[in-house]
Amino acid sequence: MAKDLQLFPDSASIGAAGVDANYLYILGVSVFFAVGISLAILYFALRYRRKSQDEIPKPIHGSLVLELTWTIIPFLLAMSMFVGGTVVFFRNYHAPANAMEVFIVGKQWMWKIQHPNGVREINEMHVPLNRPVKLIMTTEDVIHSYFIPAFRLKRDVVPGQYTTMWFQANKVGKYHLFCAEYCGTQHSGMIGWVHVMEEADYEAWLSGSIRGETMQQAGERLFNRLGCATCHKADNTGRGPTLVDVFGKAVKLQNGTTTLADEAYIRESVLKPASKIVSGYAVEMPTFQGQISEEGLLQVISYIKSLSKSAPAGGAAASEAPAGKKGGN
Ligand code: CUA
Repeated sequence: MAKDLQLFPDSASIGAAGVDANYLYILGVSVFFAVGISLAILYFALRYRRKSQDEIPKPIHGSLVLELTWTIIPFLLAMSMFVGGTVVFFRNYHAPANAMEVFIVGKQWMWKIQHPNGVREINEMHVPLNRPVKLIMTTEDVIHSYFIPAFRLKRDVVPGQYTTMWFQANKVGKYHLFCAEYCGTQHSGMIGWVHVMEEADYEAWLSGSIRGETMQQAGERLFNRLGCATCHKADNTGRGPTLVDVFGKAVKLQNGTTTLADEAYIRESVLKPASKIVSGYAVEMPTFQGQISEEGLLQVISYIKSLSKSAPAGGAAASEAPAGKKGGN
């Protein structure tokens, strides 16, 4: 019984220690002041209690030193918590460029996980040990939240946009996966497991899983089936701009501004073609809203990424900052 009573969840990623350190620091400061103030109240209540009926205490009329002390010390304490939290936040939500990508689609009430080579899983996520993994996440319906306590990571998945986070697992094992945002009747059942495996075991698992095509191949098939290929030609002779070497680059728009061609931009261009028109082109493209699933969109994005030399397959080229910024909650 006492053995099951665990104060902290397992710690299985390199980012976990920083979160715990912050937590313990804030807890320590809070306990110190809670105990200190309680004892002071008790002491003063006894020491300075009224001892006779006509006792009038001597009033104090301000003290600059005192005012400064109780302003500056709490200020520094609050700022140290803020800085500590910010450092951990940026570390956990800005993936290194060499991170392998795993795609998550939430749905009432399950987690759909897709690996770049096409392997799909539901409510289970297999990841290799000691390798940075970036999660690119969205949802088909309502807001969910992808929560892995052992990695000290949690982030909302939001309809209509991509949010990201990353981790590097450092302990082999099986860890809980939760939905941490109330999302309907079966919210409590929207749970699963994260399996951290030795690199060799992970490769064996990947190759042993049944799969048809990679995400890139599936994306290319969709690209042709939906007719994208008829306008977006590789040699730029089509009615739409070529998509070769576009991902991760700045795109000049008709209204004179530029935008970064990241996951969010491609998604928007597929579903709402009129919202950002590339300079020199007219709005001829129809919307594909309703014709392509969230998983299909991720596949098309994988394919478009593969057309760009600056974004190596499975790499995380320039896409991090905007996707990350958008998802702040
Ligand atoms: Cu999904 Cu709660």
